[in-house]
Amino acid sequence: MAAPKVAVVGAGVIGLSTALCIVEACPSCSVTVLSDQFSPNTTSDVAAGMLIPHTYPGTPIHVQKQWFKETFTYLFAISNSAEASEAGIHLVSGWQIFKSTPKEELPFWSDAVLGFRPMSEAELQKFPQYQFGQAFTTLKCDCPPYLLWLEKRLKAAGVQMYNRKVSDLWELHSEYDIVVNCTGIGAHQLVGDKKIFPVRGQVLKVYAPWVKNFIRDGDGLTYIYPGIHSVTLGGTREKESWSLSPNPGTTKDIFDRCCSLEPSLREAQDIKVKVGLRPSRQSVRLQREVLSQGGVKLPVVHNYGHGAGGFSVHRGTAKEAARLVGECIAALRGSSSGAKL
Ligand SMILES: Cc1cc2nc3c(=O)[nH]c(=O)nc-3n(C[C@H](O)[C@H](O)[C@H](O)COP(=O)(O)OP(=O)(O)OC[C@H]3O[C@@H](n4cnc5c(N)ncnc54)[C@H](O)[C@@H]3O)c2cc1C
Ligand SMILES: *[C@@H]1O[C@H](CO)[C@@H](O)[C@H](O)[C@H]1NC(C)=O
Ligand SMILES: *[C@@H]1O[C@H](CO)[C@@H](O)[C@H](O)[C@H]1NC(C)=O
Repeated sequence: MAAPKVAVVGAGVIGLSTALCIVEACPSCSVTVLSDQFSPNTTSDVAAGMLIPHTYPGTPIHVQKQWFKETFTYLFAISNSAEASEAGIHLVSGWQIFKSTPKEELPFWSDAVLGFRPMSEAELQKFPQYQFGQAFTTLKCDCPPYLLWLEKRLKAAGVQMYNRKVSDLWELHSEYDIVVNCTGIGAHQLVGDKKIFPVRGQVLKVYAPWVKNFIRDGDGLTYIYPGIHSVTLGGTREKESWSLSPNPGTTKDIFDRCCSLEPSLREAQDIKVKVGLRPSRQSVRLQREVLSQGGVKLPVVHNYGHGAGGFSVHRGTAKEAARLVGECIAALRGSSSGAKL
C-alpha cells in the first residue's frame, strides 16, 4: 500500500492536535484537515483554555487522568520554551473556592497540577462568603494563538488544510483511506449521534492586565481566568441551547458575579462577549468503526464529545486517536490486495 491518505474532519483543538499526533506517529502518512470553519470561528476559539479537567461520567477516572497528564506534560514543555508566547501557553496560579467544604476535598487531578494545597486563612480572607478553597498552579492556553500555532506546525509538516463541509463521512471514501471524525457538536448532525448535546457557554473577554491570578467558584460557573492579552470572565452552562447570540442580561450577570469575587474588575475595559456550544456527551467518543457500502469499506476513527474540558485533555485524546489510526493502517496493510480491511 502507498502512503496512507488520512482525512481529519474538524479544525478545533481536537482536530488540529489529532492531525499533529498522526503526522508525528506516521511521518509517511499523507494527512489532510477538512473543516467548514477554522480559527477564529470554532468553539475552541471561545474557550478559556484553562487546564482544569471536567469529569466525564462515562469514562474511567484513570483514563481521564492519563489524558490530562499527557496534555499537561506536553503544554508544560511548550510553556518552558521560546515558543511559549507565540503558542499562547503560560502557567497561572490561583484559587478554587467553595461556599462549603466539598465532598471530595482532593479532586482526581490534584497531583497532576503543580503545588496543590488547601488555601490558608489569610488567602480565604479575600473571599468572605467562602469557607474552603484550594490553591494551585496550572496551565492556560490562549485559544486563538494556540490554534494558529497548531496550524503552523501542521503546515510545516506538510499537512494540507481545506475549507469543506462534509455532509456524510462516506463522501470521503474514494479520496481517503482513513477518516478521523473530530467535528465536535457538528457530530450531532454529521453522524446523527443523539448522545451528543450542546451546553451553551457565554463568556466575556476583558482588558484588565492587573489581574494575574485565576479565581474559580467550585461550582464551575463563575470564573476569572487571566490570559496573556485578556481576562476571560465566565460563565454559563445552558444544556440543549443552540443559540450563538450573546444575551445582554447574561452579560451583566456574569460581569456582576465576577466583580463580586474581584471588585477591581469594575475598571475593566474593552469588554467583548463570546458564545460557544460545548460538545457534551457522557464520555468522549474515541473509537474505531468501519463504514461499509456495497462491499467497499472505510475505516473511521471518532474523537469527539469533549464537552466542557476539551483543552484539558486534548493532547491525550489526540495521541489515543493517532494510535487507533495506526491500528487502521496495520489492518489495511494486512488485508489482501484489493479489498480494504
Ligand atoms: C464558554 C466556554 C468555555 C470553555 N472553557 C474551557 C476551559 O477553560 N478549559 C477546557 O478544557 N475546555 C473549555 N471549554 C471546552 C472546549 O472549548 C471544548 O471541549 C473544545 O473546544 C472542543 O473542541 P473540538 O475540536 O471538539 O470542537 P470545535 O472547536 O467545535 O471544532 C469542531 C470543528 O469541526 C468542524 N466541523 C463540524 N461539523 C463539520 C462538518 N460537517 N464538516 C466539516 N467540518 C465540520 C467545525 O467547523 C470545527 O472546525 C469551553 C467551552 C466553552 C463554550
Ligand atoms: C470567520 O468567519 C468570518 C465571518 O463569517 C469570515 O469572514 C472569515 O473568513 C472566517 N475566517 C476563517 C479563517 O474561516
Ligand atoms: C462523526 O461522528 C458523529 C457521531 O457518531 C456522527 O454523527 C457524524 O456523522 C460523524 N461524521 C462523519 C462525517 O461520519
